Amino acid sequence: MPDLNEGEFLTENLYLSMDSGFRQWMSEGAGDNYLSGMQLGDPVQSIVLGKVIESRHPGYGVGTIVNARSAWQSHSVIDGSDLCTPLVPAPGVALYEYMATLGPTGMTAWFGLREIGKPQSGEVMVVSAAGGAVGTVAGQLAKVAGCKTIGLTSSAEKARWLVEEVGYDIGISREEFPDLAAALAEHAPEGIDVFFDNVGGATLNTVMGHLRENARLVLCGAIAQYEAESPEPVYNCWELITKRALMKGFMFSDYIDEFPAAMDALSALLANGSVKGLVNLYQGVESAPQAFCDMMRGLSRGKCLVRL
Ligand SMILES: NC(=O)c1ccc[n+]([C@@H]2O[C@H](COP(=O)([O-])OP(=O)(O)OC[C@H]3O[C@@H](n4cnc5c(N)ncnc54)[C@H](OP(=O)(O)O)[C@@H]3O)[C@@H](O)[C@H]2O)c1
Repeated sequence: MPDLNEGEFLTENLYLSMDSGFRQWMSEGAGDNYLSGMQLGDPVQSIVLGKVIESRHPGYGVGTIVNARSAWQSHSVIDGSDLCTPLVPAPGVALYEYMATLGPTGMTAWFGLREIGKPQSGEVMVVSAAGGAVGTVAGQLAKVAGCKTIGLTSSAEKARWLVEEVGYDIGISREEFPDLAAALAEHAPEGIDVFFDNVGGATLNTVMGHLRENARLVLCGAIAQYEAESPEPVYNCWELITKRALMKGFMFSDYIDEFPAAMDALSALLANGSVKGLVNLYQGVESAPQAFCDMMRGLSRGKCLVRL
């Protein structure tokens, strides 16, 4: 174990979060205004949930539970600056929920909808990568708001799971409906009020052709381009003009000061059963590469986590 400098603490990590967004920072030469890219030979960056076991930081005493950006590691040295949040787990709530619905994933769905999507009762909301970590929470929150919800996903089996387990009104898979435009015309003939987009590219362009007036497009992620040679252009902007639509990106971490209030609201929804925590747990740090690849390929359901 490394020696701690003043202002640092050591965590024993209990869960690693498999976040598709990190794929963006894995490619050689990656790195941007938000995060530095991962370097060859360094541990793979990841959000972790850990327990402080040694501390030279006044704000993080031994025994504190935190989530923070660190790496696929059993133990991490953290200084509290990097997406670090101390947690006070509630009795009876599984700790992993603080990496899922009550963690960065839930915060992403919550603030994307609160700040941009603003779903209203009776509206139609479409979510892409609807069966993933963020997508399952976003879809359930839209249902709570009284929307008709449509989830987009890869396989027919996952589309059924979206309806039967997650609670979407309609699940549309690329396997059954390769022509997304035709599927949207059939299932959302009234037009789309809110699009919560995790995918970008062709999916975004197609959904932009089916908007209702005053639609809101929440740009949460663009997974279709994380492994592509170059980003796919967005060419359907005329639709935004004639439909008076709003399209806006956001980063969940901008709202870190408001996490406690959002966690309270989401905890209440979990407790009264309006929102289900959906997680896919893998065991052991050695399973992290497989878990990450399964999540990227759409094999996982809900939030993909590795328990250490
Ligand atoms: N803005 C923010 O602050 C913020 C924070 C967290 C995450 N995000 C973004 O939110 C999105 C979801 O992240 P997550 O961690 O919750 O991941 P996730 O949805 O649990 O997993 C990613 C899913 O995307 C789908 N997918 C993969 N490749 C695809 C492709 N080429 N085209 C269409 N779908 C594809 C797969 O599901 P299917 O089986 O449905 O294809 C896969 O399971 C990501 O884009 C991520 O970058 C943004």
